[in-house]
Amino acid sequence: MQQKKIMLLGSGELGKEVVIALQRLGQYVIAVDSYAGAPAMQVAHTFEVINMLDGEALDKIVDKHKPDFIVPEIEAIRTERFYDYEKLGVTVVPSAKAANFTMNRKAIRDLAAKELGLRTANYLYATTLQEFTKAVETIGIPCVLKPLMSSSGKGQSVLKDNSKEAIEKVWNYAMEGSRGDYKEVIVEAFIKFDSEITLLTVTQKNGNTLFCPPIGHRQERGDYQESWQPCAITSAHLEEAKQMAAKVTKALTGNGIWGVEFFLTPNGVYFSELSPRPHDTGMVTLANTQNFNEFELHARAILGLPIPEIQLLCNGASAVILADRVGEVKEFIGIEEVLQTNNTDVKLFNKPTTRPYRRMGVVLTKSELTNKVDDCKNAAIELAKKIEISYK
Ligand SMILES: Nc1ncnc2c1ncn2[C@@H]1O[C@H](COP(=O)(O)OP(=O)(O)OP(=O)(O)O)[C@@H](O)[C@H]1O
Ligand SMILES: [Mg+2]
Repeated sequence: MQQKKIMLLGSGELGKEVVIALQRLGQYVIAVDSYAGAPAMQVAHTFEVINMLDGEALDKIVDKHKPDFIVPEIEAIRTERFYDYEKLGVTVVPSAKAANFTMNRKAIRDLAAKELGLRTANYLYATTLQEFTKAVETIGIPCVLKPLMSSSGKGQSVLKDNSKEAIEKVWNYAMEGSRGDYKEVIVEAFIKFDSEITLLTVTQKNGNTLFCPPIGHRQERGDYQESWQPCAITSAHLEEAKQMAAKVTKALTGNGIWGVEFFLTPNGVYFSELSPRPHDTGMVTLANTQNFNEFELHARAILGLPIPEIQLLCNGASAVILADRVGEVKEFIGIEEVLQTNNTDVKLFNKPTTRPYRRMGVVLTKSELTNKVDDCKNAAIELAKKIEISYK
């Protein structure tokens, strides 16, 4: 196996783990982000600081480094450029198509619901307040409003009553949370799910698509708070989810790991959305719940190295450690106490600055498969509460 040059676009905590996995396979990595000292830059061979939404800035670094692979770690990138890079012979992971379709909710939703016939929440699009008001009448209350271009729940809200004031309020919130000057929204029927899962799906060069045991998670303010693996699901629902994940990843083409999100309801499984890269809820695999964590799976799939099978080794859970203000970390208080508990681990991301709700680390717990995964989850939540950040 030859060393390849890999350009990672986005250098957060997930990217950092991808770099570590690639480095362990002897690869050369250039980590890119909008600020210096980002987590993945700390472990990469070299780094670049650019605005990744600026196509010319992207062209420049691609031309400078001439990578074999471009591995996006975030959504906010001038992904249209990826088609050009593919023409130049660069492998975009998993593919330019996947990155472009998933960065716009309309592209991916129409592909999933209309072209592939996957079950999704009913939805409509709107570009003006009037259109939105009409869409609410059709979809009904409650409904969820999301900017077409946004991630981590930005600009997203649930509309619970159809008064003029409420409609205007969520509309304005969506406009503010929209990436760039793109002003279109999706209005989705609210799904009363029992639970939501991420089905990590690995597409491989040899055509053998693998699935990780489902990961359950809970979201707040658009970000996950805790995740656990395996998540309880009936075998019929799991089979349904796997078939949907296989269909959509096949249509988007390319090799790598994908985080496919589903809602579980008594009436069946709903496809929600997907990320063509490691998923934040998949950090639970850092507890060594599987024979390969999600980052190692990604690295192998990118490089075309075989993954014969994915085995679940134990229960696991992750719970986030969040900052509560703008500043810099002085110290994480309580780590020693938390690590006194058996089967517990902590990962700290080393982000240079904090802001309210910024994810600074995770607590990981695990237990034997014969135990209840709920206990594991609750332990992670309780232990994360014991960690406090002191600021400079
Ligand atoms: N139609 C829906 N019905 C009920 N809940 C929903 C619906 N759509 C989204 N949600 C809730 O909001 C969360 C975020 O939605 P979604 O994944 O579409 O947004 P996102 O901004 O792409 O989030 P992220 O980038 O963090 O994955 C979901 O995980 C789910 O908890
Ligand atoms: Mg999501």
